[in-house]
Amino acid sequence: MEIIQVSNYEEMSKRAAEFLLKKIEQNPSLALGLATGSTPKGLYEQLILDRKEHGTSYEHVTTINLDEYIGLPASNPNSYHSFMKENLFRHLDIPLSNSYLPNGEAADLQKECTRYESIIDEKGIDVQVLGIGQNGHIGFNEPGTSFNQTTHITTLAQSTRQANARFFQSIEEVPKQAITMGIASIMKSSEILLLASGAKKAEAVHQLLSGEISEDFPASVLHHHPHVTIIADDGALSIVT
Ligand code: PGA
Repeated sequence: MEIIQVSNYEEMSKRAAEFLLKKIEQNPSLALGLATGSTPKGLYEQLILDRKEHGTSYEHVTTINLDEYIGLPASNPNSYHSFMKENLFRHLDIPLSNSYLPNGEAADLQKECTRYESIIDEKGIDVQVLGIGQNGHIGFNEPGTSFNQTTHITTLAQSTRQANARFFQSIEEVPKQAITMGIASIMKSSEILLLASGAKKAEAVHQLLSGEISEDFPASVLHHHPHVTIIADDGALSIVT
């Protein structure tokens, strides 16, 4: 695991953008695993800025997102389809046919999980971007998820619903379930870039870097991955000794 310490959120976002832009320069047909949430938003802003300034093309890039809520229409502003469209896709030249997210409205959700996992296998993710939940989740793999799980239907931890309630009118509106890449799906990626910012992630980052590997702390599986880079700011590293 390589750890890059930066001073703040903006610097984390810039370093992460530099990291990905280098990968795209090396391989314009990169298959990029993407995440939603507050953490990667600044990274996406930097990619949009770069596109304006340098015209980087994503014409041949494929994107595969980690997860999507079940039961929210893709058009709902809180769906991850909407998040990605608003915060990234509509600003770049990624053909929408090359961008994948799980369909949380599929009539047969089990079948959708199988379909999504086969996309992951077929495309082969080169770099997966991850945030980390305060409870150590990656994607929506909550504590206790088997490390052998591929894409599956998950029930969100109450603490995750609480953390995400800030985007909704009330916690009751936060969906209870999601489709998420599993831990085993994430581990198939050739390379992983985990981002963490702010003191509210300090406990989770501390736990991750303690080196203890347990299904009770999903991100700890990353110690089994051969190529992980963590970009974390001073806040997120504030209790790491
Ligand atoms: P956040 O979420 O980026 O909104 O903090 C991260 C996560 O829950 O994985």
